[in-house]
Amino acid sequence: KKYSVAIVGATGAVGKQILYLLEKSTIQIDQLRLLASAKSAGKTEKFKNKEIVVEETTEDSFKDIDLAFFSASGTVTKKYQQVARDLGAIVIDNTSAFRMDADVPLVIPEVNPEQLHAHNQLIANPNCSTIQMVVTLKPIAEAFGLQRVIVSTYQAVSGAGLDALKEMETQTQAVLNGKKPQAHILPSSSDKKHYPIAFNAIPQIDLFSEDGYTLEEWKMINETKKIMKIEALQVAATCVRIPVKSGHSESIYLEVNKDNVTVNDIKKVLENAPGVLLEDKPSNQIYPMAITAAGKKEVFVGRIRRDLDNKKGFHLWVVSDNLIKGAALNAVQIAEKMIDMSLL
Ligand code: A2P
Repeated sequence: KKYSVAIVGATGAVGKQILYLLEKSTIQIDQLRLLASAKSAGKTEKFKNKEIVVEETTEDSFKDIDLAFFSASGTVTKKYQQVARDLGAIVIDNTSAFRMDADVPLVIPEVNPEQLHAHNQLIANPNCSTIQMVVTLKPIAEAFGLQRVIVSTYQAVSGAGLDALKEMETQTQAVLNGKKPQAHILPSSSDKKHYPIAFNAIPQIDLFSEDGYTLEEWKMINETKKIMKIEALQVAATCVRIPVKSGHSESIYLEVNKDNVTVNDIKKVLENAPGVLLEDKPSNQIYPMAITAAGKKEVFVGRIRRDLDNKKGFHLWVVSDNLIKGAALNAVQIAEKMIDMSLL
């Protein structure tokens, strides 16, 4: 079957990656509609050597569309997802708008593809930091049980969009030229204050909730429990933005349920885990890094150590490209999986 596909936010950091990955995907596409804001209407993007003109997103954009990827913003998803569904499209949404809705499947194809059966033409793609963590945790939980997770993230600027990336470059140049860097976007364009990301580490991603956790931290906590279907799982997160272009890094502390699990047991499970690549040879200085993970599809895991005080505790370092497995690739894999399962 051939599909008519739309990408909402096609000119953005994630949208461009979806376009690139669709070129390589097995999904047969006979029509591709690239949608963005009015500002981008008339621009062109290449798909399989053909120039496609970007259009402004309107309610008419979804006529005859079978599959629509949304990666503009939660507001844009909320505005257009219903009309897209009413016109018969299956919507795969990269924003956080519907992720925690009970009747919307939140899917990582390696982890919980069975949830796709319950789709109601709307499937949510999890948060970038959640995806790489859960791809790692799921096989460990299956083999040894999982009691507790404490994660600290070191997140790349591309997760905040192309404008944030540009701002980091301008700020870096300013600092190197001895000037004061100007900040307008990070940590969150909708918050009151802005701080430079160049030569900095900012312990705020998204807005704060009243309990002192940020919304990004709450996304990791709630989405992990929903995807893994372990409501009792203890999860805490600290999310930090660092001046890296692409590739989120995570320091994960976890506690398994089973006794006498060894580092080698964990390694063996991860070696066979779909989507995971072990990079763990300290004697040779082999470990995952943002610059080596950028542009790749896998979730890279290394620095696996047993905790010094808790025998059921382990520490891991997990890195993946936030725009690829963290966003665009996972969305495209959801579509491919739905085709495999005859749901699309
Ligand atoms: P545009 O480039 O026209 O502003 P990023 O995550 O890199 O910031 O990209 C956000 C994406 O969402 C861009 O493709 C952007 O298009 C798109 N976008 C922003 N606002 C709207 C809107 N109101 N309607 C449709 N697309 C939008």
